[in-house]
Amino acid sequence: MSSEKQPYLALVKHLGSSQYTFICPSPETQGRVVEKRKASRKTEDAKTAEDFFGWNLSASRETLTRIIPDSLNQSLRKAGVVKPVDNDSSNYRSTIRVSNFYTPNIPSFDTDAIPLYYIHSAFPASSDSVFFGPDTYLFVSFLGSSDRHLKQQPRSIVDVCCGSGAGAIHLARIYSDAKTYGLDLNPKALGFGDVNAGLAGVDVEFHESDLYAHISNSSETQDEGIDLIVSNPPYIASSPEDTDLPIYADGGAQFGLDISYRIIEEGAKLLSAQGVMMLYTGVAIPVAQPGFDPLLDRIRKVKDVELVEYTILHPDMWPEEIGKGAYAEVGRIQAIGAVLRKSKER
Ligand SMILES: C[S@@+](CC[C@H](N)C(=O)[O-])C[C@H]1O[C@@H](n2cnc3c(N)ncnc32)[C@H](O)[C@@H]1O
Repeated sequence: MSSEKQPYLALVKHLGSSQYTFICPSPETQGRVVEKRKASRKTEDAKTAEDFFGWNLSASRETLTRIIPDSLNQSLRKAGVVKPVDNDSSNYRSTIRVSNFYTPNIPSFDTDAIPLYYIHSAFPASSDSVFFGPDTYLFVSFLGSSDRHLKQQPRSIVDVCCGSGAGAIHLARIYSDAKTYGLDLNPKALGFGDVNAGLAGVDVEFHESDLYAHISNSSETQDEGIDLIVSNPPYIASSPEDTDLPIYADGGAQFGLDISYRIIEEGAKLLSAQGVMMLYTGVAIPVAQPGFDPLLDRIRKVKDVELVEYTILHPDMWPEEIGKGAYAEVGRIQAIGAVLRKSKER
């Protein structure tokens, strides 16, 4: 592992040894918890590693010394991971969050369930924050069914809109012989992805790319096509009131489905003859048409692929969006998992 990743490795080793547990909630939930903590002088400062690296509360020098060894503290400060809250402050904050993928020490049917930590952006989000949250957990468990859909071991895997790399890393752990790519528009995501792949001990190639641009121009993936394309893209609809949606959330026009449509339509052309695409996304269901799913409608018209499975993975994601802005007439946002297979040539 390269020297700039060493402080992260030392941090997760240390956190793992004390059974650190932070399962990342939605920004709305984190906001409520943090607001309540900050409402009282007694609770506003971090007391535990979870407070500091999960809820991102600030910590005094004494607390920090208790939470992490001095040598680790120094290397994290040098790497810019731990910073003073302001220039002459004796309080410190973390510029990252550390989230568990699996809760430590729970019985699991998943034999791959090792303690796995992901590094991602601090709370609260800014325009270029790197996402890891409830959608990530649902997306990765949806990917658990990939084996059922693939006719053979994939030779190439692409996670487009990869963020902190969870999808790509999960698949690289299962299909260790495949060449796995993580593509994202946000350079910060690629940096975190690289660190997270190192922490998980897998090889993933991360590239800055507007959707598939990087691989569309590469002869390596063009010749045979891609065996497995996966994605959890941004899917929140922007509205005139929401001009500052973070890059991880803004799914563009058509109720935030624009990016998802492009992923399916452009990805269909890039799949190999046995190729499979697994898309996790959110679909706004109008109050007036509760039986109409615009994504399903659109998928059925896409050439080169056939729909194999379409599952509601969560019936009511991001409920705080409902009834306002672009969602004024929307009843709920359902998270779905769509599986598509390259059609046989006739
Ligand atoms: C909701 S986040 C999901 C991240 C990750 N897939 C996960 O499950 O945690 C969406 C990601 O898409 C990226 N993104 C947005 N527009 C993109 C584009 N046009 N091309 C590539 N990536 C894009 C964002 O930077 C962000 O990392």
